[in-house]
Amino acid sequence: MTAANYKTPPNPYDELPYCAYPVAWTAPERLALTSLLHGGPRLPLDQYRVLELGCANGANLLPMAWYRQHGEFTGFDASARQVSLANEARDHLGLSNLQFVHGDFRSAPDQLEGPFDIIMAHGVFSWINDDARDAMLGLCRSLLAPDGLLYLNYNAKPGWTVRGMVRDFLMQQTAHASTLKERAEMCREVSAKVIAPLQAEEHPYSKLMGNEFQLVVNQDPAYIAHEYLSPENNAYWRDEFFSLLHESGFAYVADADFNCISNRITSDYENLLKEAGMPGRAPSEGADLICYRQMQSPILTHAPFAKRACNDTEFANLVMASMLEPVEGKQGENPSFKHILGQEIETCKDPLHKALLKLQPLWPRGLSVKSLFSDIQDIREDLEWLLRYQLIELRCIEPGDFEAAPEPLNELEQSLRQISTSAWHTSSESKHPTESTIAPVTDSRKFIPL
Ligand SMILES: C[S@@+](CC[C@H](N)C(=O)[O-])C[C@H]1O[C@@H](n2cnc3c(N)ncnc32)[C@H](O)[C@@H]1O
Repeated sequence: MTAANYKTPPNPYDELPYCAYPVAWTAPERLALTSLLHGGPRLPLDQYRVLELGCANGANLLPMAWYRQHGEFTGFDASARQVSLANEARDHLGLSNLQFVHGDFRSAPDQLEGPFDIIMAHGVFSWINDDARDAMLGLCRSLLAPDGLLYLNYNAKPGWTVRGMVRDFLMQQTAHASTLKERAEMCREVSAKVIAPLQAEEHPYSKLMGNEFQLVVNQDPAYIAHEYLSPENNAYWRDEFFSLLHESGFAYVADADFNCISNRITSDYENLLKEAGMPGRAPSEGADLICYRQMQSPILTHAPFAKRACNDTEFANLVMASMLEPVEGKQGENPSFKHILGQEIETCKDPLHKALLKLQPLWPRGLSVKSLFSDIQDIREDLEWLLRYQLIELRCIEPGDFEAAPEPLNELEQSLRQISTSAWHTSSESKHPTESTIAPVTDSRKFIPL
């Protein structure tokens, strides 16, 4: 075939645009906090440049740029239709600190000018072929600032293997339909039929499959089309992913979702496997198996990189926020607090008790750690523990420092995807499965003593 008669294959994202949503933990301040607490590069937060690769309709970058007018944001995507939707929304909001560029990773070097302090790609790494993936990694290498952060989310083995079986089944069942939308709608119908007999079964395998097919039924066609019917869908073992990234010149810093529900690796599992003499290829992989983990969201930086632990002065400068409500207790008991999701804690430290009482009415606003505690060394471990279980928030800066009125943004978001994103980059009613496939912890375990 000559170049003249070669036709570019149709882009499935042009046929049916993806329904992207904001991803809370990709906000620059959140990435900066995660990196700081894990000894990674310190990100400048007064001014920075962010690049999102595979940005789709711009749903993640629009609110990010809206509230952070001191930052400069670029989205890059191969789907002309999605980029045009993103540009329309950008123009509607009149954002001059955000641009969307249409292009392919394989021909991007001439279109993008670095350096960027943050490069992020959510839901992209696993959905592209090896050529595009390697081109994307080359781009990241050349465009990331020396102390920059790279966020790369990918589908993880072994958990993804289960979803992969469902995908294979749905691909076969719908192969005869003519449009992507028809195929996606058929996926829902097929899944609904499969669920019915599974619900009658008590066997754990039936429950597992029932949940997987229920996820399909709950999603909209655009999500199903690109999640289950994409020609590329490559899951990686954690170790395999990091080998690739090391070969490309990157070093691991931390998991962006280290304190989120999607992150079901706990250090306890890893230690348990190590102590049991079961290191395997990497203890975290064994932990992933036990936790049925399907997705990873690591942050990386250029290699070589030497960890620099967060010191007490840096920790003291963080902002703490808490919605923990005091609980009536019996006399003589330690004061207790309850989280909106049900967890309860007890504290035997007076400064922590006082700080929690002070912070709750201020929520979602916070106060600096140094204004709440005089002895940082004494309280730090407790605060890190509370953060790990999402019982409090720690922040590098308050959105109050860069706030813009939410209304124009939220009106647009409501009309486009029925969500409202806050200055903290959290969205109401987000259907993004990154944050909702796992039910929140609702038990009221007591963690004693703090
Ligand atoms: C599954 S979507 C993820 C969208 C969004 N980041 C999210 O997670 O909500 C993958 C995106 O990558 C883009 N993409 C795929 N291959 C690409 C390539 N070779 N160059 C640039 N963008 C590409 C697609 O157009 C699509 O918008």
